[in-house]
Amino acid sequence: MKKFVIEGGRPLKGEVTLSGSKNASLPILAATLLAPGEHIIHNVPMLGDVKTMIKILKATGAITKFENHTLVINTKSITNSKVPYELVSTMRASFLIAGALIGRLGEAYVSRPGGCAIGSRPIDGHLKGFEALGVKIEEKHGYINATTKDLKGAEIWLNERSVTGTENILLASVFAKGETRVTNYAKEPHVIDLIKFLNSMGAKIKAQDDSIIIEGVKKLQPKEYTISPDYNEAGTFMIGSAITGGDIFLRDVRWEDSISEIAKLREIGVEVKKDKLGIRVKRKKIIKPCTVKTAPCPGFPTDLQPQITALLTLADGTSIVTETMFEQRFNHIPELRRMGAQIELEERSAIIKGVSELSGAKVMASDIRAGAALVLAGLSAKGVTEISRIYHIDRGYENLETKLSTLGAKIKRV
Ligand code: EPU
Repeated sequence: MKKFVIEGGRPLKGEVTLSGSKNASLPILAATLLAPGEHIIHNVPMLGDVKTMIKILKATGAITKFENHTLVINTKSITNSKVPYELVSTMRASFLIAGALIGRLGEAYVSRPGGCAIGSRPIDGHLKGFEALGVKIEEKHGYINATTKDLKGAEIWLNERSVTGTENILLASVFAKGETRVTNYAKEPHVIDLIKFLNSMGAKIKAQDDSIIIEGVKKLQPKEYTISPDYNEAGTFMIGSAITGGDIFLRDVRWEDSISEIAKLREIGVEVKKDKLGIRVKRKKIIKPCTVKTAPCPGFPTDLQPQITALLTLADGTSIVTETMFEQRFNHIPELRRMGAQIELEERSAIIKGVSELSGAKVMASDIRAGAALVLAGLSAKGVTEISRIYHIDRGYENLETKLSTLGAKIKRV
């Protein structure tokens, strides 16, 4: 099995161009089912999770060609509404296919996604939303069987501001007769990107402050579209610059998508500057301790919690990081402790007493973002860090070691 070997202690320096957003690509690829014909989607990251979504789309009947970050996908003939366990079990977001199939075929037979390393991740909000739109839901043998003859607009209030829940309801409701209003919706940049794509195909969706209003349309047209930059990857690199005392320039990233992380980095003592071509992140001073609490957008993203936790292990004092979104998203902590970090867990909070340096060790990635946190810790640590199970990291970061190497890191995949 492949692993990363990192010789730490080198500041990241230079300029890097990042990839398109994984979490925008997944719902947008599913959304291509709603408009029969050929779509051309640019800036699609070549990642494990994207490849899984492409396999799922092919299983429904789509024809795809994926080269140089452009996916040409023909969804003219979609005949299969069954998505087997084998395809859904490796990625929670596979369940986005349910909303797209309901919209396209009026039926979906999709395996219920299981729990995962970061928590139980229920789908009750997705299913309640489908039912409100007139979809009959039955569950048997681990499969959700969704059928409808007539999608009708509805008022939907989400108990949790679920990202894929909001996206699934959007996918299922674009053709629903009349108006659908989704309140307490997720406002993450990837949800907004999906709305832009659907509107570019002819949907009538307005995202207001408190709710999304969807005016049902009769059909959509296939489109050429460019996926937005990945703010989770950008945030990871910004924290990488901070943890190594580096000075990097991130090209073609969107400031407005990273506001909460930029605010925290500035509070910690990192210089973050906007430029018309991107963002510069530089740290010369000590790392100040702080408190971080994850929350749905525009709060601090849970997908950057492990990385900022790694950064705060080197702060000059005690920091508190509280994870409010996922009950088990602290799997990186025992691994960071192996590298010399001093962290105590109290329920959903990590109490981090800053140390002067981390030391290289053998550690294991348990999910995408926990793996990224260990890479960042390894880049700053004294000595050699070996990270195993990097297939988790590959699900969400494209060519991470190549991009880091261009910034001067010593990282090898062996
Ligand atoms: N929730 C419910 N019921 C539901 C759905 C969600 O109670 O029906 C709860 C969850 O248990 C959680 C909260 O709502 O406490 C938020 O979960 P959400 O549904 O928003 O998570 P998700 O849609 O499954 C997406 C991202 C995750 C990211 C979360 C939170 C995609 C493909 N995945 O997951 O990304 O952590 O939103 O922002 O967009 C990653 O990229 O590494 C990743 C895990």
